Amino acid sequence: WDPNWLERPIALIGLSGCGKSTLARLLARALCWPWYDTDAAVAASAGMSVADLFQVYGEAEFRARESAALAEALREPQVIATGGGIVLQAENRRMLHDQATVIWLDATDTTILARLAADAEQRPLLRGDAAARLAELRAQRTPLYAELADLTFQTDGVMPIDLVQRMLAAL
Ligand code: S3P
Repeated sequence: WDPNWLERPIALIGLSGCGKSTLARLLARALCWPWYDTDAAVAASAGMSVADLFQVYGEAEFRARESAALAEALREPQVIATGGGIVLQAENRRMLHDQATVIWLDATDTTILARLAADAEQRPLLRGDAAARLAELRAQRTPLYAELADLTFQTDGVMPIDLVQRMLAAL
């Protein structure tokens, strides 16, 4: 626990559909802080959706823009919702470790698949057999999320506002 947490940005990490965007907004509101969404920033900078960016320019271009968005986001204390793959690049992990309080949000595959069913088209990495892809992403990323996390919360079946209260109590 870091007594200076109020001076550091808070970054929410975890797989797609674990609640990062919803909780970032709510936690920011509770703290009277701004919030920042790296996917939204990338989409704005590219002038197209994340899905289109993957399709037209490829994942590498998305990852480069995602790193730039993270660096920008870390410049002030705010709550940052990251993309699920932010932990893939060592440089991003270093920035998060050095500059942020990191909260890992997790949920079961069942919960994630149900949450994403509505907008699967916007998740290029989960196209096709989503359950199989999710299992792969989870296996690959769990050690990376775990290594970075200062705090971890399971989001299944918990009201977002209750989770925010738990986060504030734990920070
Ligand atoms: C990705 C997750 C997405 C988005 C992009 C890649 C990933 O963000 O950044 O589609 O690699 O898991 P969410 O975690 O908000 O879905």
